[in-house]
Amino acid sequence: MTALRIDNLHKAYTDSYSGEEVTAIDDVSFEVEQGEFVSVLGPSGCGKTTVLNIVAGFVRKTGGTVVVDGRPVDGPGPDRGVVFQSHALFPWKTVLGNVVFGLRMRGVPRAERNARGKEFLELVGLDGFGHRYPHELSGGMQQRLGVARVLANEPAVMLMDEPFASIDAQTRRKLQENLTEIFQERRPTVFFVTHDVDEAVFLSDRIVVLSRRPSRVREIVDVRLPRPRTWQETAELPEFRRTANKVNELLAGDEDDAGAVVASA
Ligand SMILES: Nc1ncnc2c1ncn2[C@@H]1O[C@H](COP(=O)(O)OP(=O)(O)OP(=O)(O)O)[C@@H](O)[C@H]1O
Ligand SMILES: [Mg+2]
Repeated sequence: MTALRIDNLHKAYTDSYSGEEVTAIDDVSFEVEQGEFVSVLGPSGCGKTTVLNIVAGFVRKTGGTVVVDGRPVDGPGPDRGVVFQSHALFPWKTVLGNVVFGLRMRGVPRAERNARGKEFLELVGLDGFGHRYPHELSGGMQQRLGVARVLANEPAVMLMDEPFASIDAQTRRKLQENLTEIFQERRPTVFFVTHDVDEAVFLSDRIVVLSRRPSRVREIVDVRLPRPRTWQETAELPEFRRTANKVNELLAGDEDDAGAVVASA
């Protein structure tokens, strides 16, 4: 079943200063099946965050359709859970309080939501930290808390915009392994934005490569790597390098195209 379907998405922003229209997204279509991990990759400023924000319901599209779980998107909703790049946690709530917030809003009884909250804290390796506060956690732990909070709500689609970008390389690898383990165990539907090619290959089932702005889909690349995945084993597979090279070529080819346009102008 299709969890997320994007058809002929178009987005033009109106510059608040000059009043000029800037086309961020020209024509983007792809879908994410239920239980599939799909990454979107593309040059800086090509509109990745814009696509994610439109799916989240934070930004209005100017054309095309976005359907989540059979329903057209019209504003934010609990069927889409967003893990932000910065943690966006509630500093005045405990770790457990952050995880169960959405369940509380939905009226899940206390005992049940706390049990579910603890289960998800365990899943991200934060068992025993439920009574701490976010500021008492490291950046990597806060990011795992962000993941647990979204997972606990069991959204139809989990939206992640470069969630590990501000984290040191070693911790990032651990978080990627943690996310791939969670994916293996729970099979959430994930729409993941990144500009890190290796990260996209390591985590994904498919990678949507976007062109420069105004963006179009250059190619959708299948990742044929076995699961479960660990960095040590996966990075050594020839298929890992082959896929990463292919994505890198697609991105580099785009730069050549842009250069050619400039040269002929
Ligand atoms: N609110 C806005 N008003 C006007 N233009 C905007 C707005 N938000 C984004 N844009 C423009 O739309 C384009 C796409 O931006 P977006 O943030 O989606 O790119 P991105 O691919 O996520 O970039 P990055 O890789 O740097 O995160 C950019 O040219 C940006 O300047
Ligand atoms: Mg972005």
